[in-house]
Amino acid sequence: MTPSTLAHEEWGSGEPVVLLHGFPFHRGQWRALGSELGRHVRVIAPDLRGFGGSAFTDMVAGRAWTMEQHADDVAALLDALAIRGPVTLFGFSMGGYVALAFLRRHGARVGALGLINTRAIADSQEAAAGRAALAAKALAEGPGPVIEAMLPRLLAPQTLAKRPEVAAAVRALMEVAPREGIAASLRGMALRADSNELLPRVGVPTLVVVGEHDAISSPTEMAGIAQAIPGARFTQLPAAGHMTTHEAPAELARASLDFLRSL
Ligand code: MLT
Repeated sequence: MTPSTLAHEEWGSGEPVVLLHGFPFHRGQWRALGSELGRHVRVIAPDLRGFGGSAFTDMVAGRAWTMEQHADDVAALLDALAIRGPVTLFGFSMGGYVALAFLRRHGARVGALGLINTRAIADSQEAAAGRAALAAKALAEGPGPVIEAMLPRLLAPQTLAKRPEVAAAVRALMEVAPREGIAASLRGMALRADSNELLPRVGVPTLVVVGEHDAISSPTEMAGIAQAIPGARFTQLPAAGHMTTHEAPAELARASLDFLRSL
């Protein structure tokens, strides 16, 4: 069985802002930003297919959930919510890959874009092979191997050393990830398209955010994304790694609100 509509959480009212979480998280990643933005706009945070309340276990061996499938799920959710006009779409990391796929497939439904700690390039062969191996491990063992592989790269060295509560919160988000969802999205990310050709054609206001010490989507790479998108604003958050939602929540909220006010 597949979910007909993604589970989701909402805050506030007004202009719709959709927040797409990263891998292997769930909508809970957005709790701080969602409640803050919800004082000004209507925030909608879905659980992407395979995670949180959108988890299901009809796993067939080798299944991949592509970024296009996730994007179409988000479009179906907007249909179900009767949101026909353009939305502001924020995507964090894998959520950014989904946001770019959404832009390609449902471009008329995007009024503004937020690319948070994400990448435009496709996986190298080596990265794709690593994801395939990790998917097999996660199916056999659950989220443990993914957590051990990812946690040191998700957080800035000073966060790992001095902010155990942040590391614990990020770990808790991952511990509940179902093994089927992990495997299918890992395989889907390995199949994702290179989005670099899309960037100069992004015709909507765009915010690009990175953490100063992001080891997954580096400041240099994200500055390049911002440069390639006409008129994009680029914000680098000091002292944060990849998990700006948790390492710099106040700064991320400020950058997001400034951007929303500029629209
Ligand atoms: C994420 O945070 O969503 C992942 O790091 C994305 C990825 O593995 O490419």
